[in-house]
Amino acid sequence: MRSVTKDNITEVFTSYLGENTDPRVREVLSAMARHLHDFAREVNLTHEEWRTGIAFLTRAGEITTPERQEFVLLSDVLGLSSLVDMLHSTPEATSSSVLGPFHVSNPPPLAFGGDMKRQYEGKVVLVEGTVRGTDGNPIPGAQIDIWQTAPNGMYSSQDPDQDIHSFHGLMTANDKGRYAFTTVRPVEYTVPSDGPVGDILNAAGRHPWRPSHLHYIVTADGYRSLVTEVFPEDDPYLDQDTVFGVRDDLVMKYVEQPADSFPDGYELSGTVKGTYLRVDFDLVLAPSI
Ligand code: BEZ
Ligand code: FE
Repeated sequence: MRSVTKDNITEVFTSYLGENTDPRVREVLSAMARHLHDFAREVNLTHEEWRTGIAFLTRAGEITTPERQEFVLLSDVLGLSSLVDMLHSTPEATSSSVLGPFHVSNPPPLAFGGDMKRQYEGKVVLVEGTVRGTDGNPIPGAQIDIWQTAPNGMYSSQDPDQDIHSFHGLMTANDKGRYAFTTVRPVEYTVPSDGPVGDILNAAGRHPWRPSHLHYIVTADGYRSLVTEVFPEDDPYLDQDTVFGVRDDLVMKYVEQPADSFPDGYELSGTVKGTYLRVDFDLVLAPSI
């Protein structure tokens, strides 16, 4: 096509795709060009705005390292990561939620009832639940990788004062599919906002806060892996998570338990004299296809 106009450029783009282009690549590229062109037409994008966008992407590339992925963060704050998650979730299974950049590989094993709180101050939280399939049957042996912030709002990989594996643990569900551990309540924190994504949040009048949460990756043979989080129902940022990770079924109560009622059979049994909090969070996995 010689005579490209602002109205036909989208069709021209599609006509340039090779005959043997993979059908899915064709579908995705055509739709991407259609939305991109419509976007530019709709807002009447100016040269200056286009240059600002290119400069933004350039800065995001420059700041990206193996430890800091600014493009994933961009996808997170635009809601794209969460949307892709929700497009592929199984309604009967526990909702998935964002992974975030702070998971540390090779977490230390955490025995059933083990403690992640260690020397940290704060009220003990006992978290427990059952891992089961969408058919309701428990999944003994499921692997549950858990991580969270320390009480200072930092993950171990952000904080030189923490051991790299602090507040990380890998638990195996017991013969009834149960898991249980103690910890302290995680705290709300901000996503990294000192780079180009932070500039977008600022320009949009948005804050960088996430509600407090515990992260989980749950895996079991024959089931789809689940990346998820659990949030306390009284967190002030629950309705304002800057990465759109909150789902109804991931919001749980931290229920205060009476003093001297901490049960037997856990690493901290016998040492928790005062009140403590309890969170029940079952994890439902979809069968793999
Ligand atoms: C997190 O929950 O750790 C997180 C998620 C998305 C972006 C940044 C952090
Ligand atoms: Fe997190």
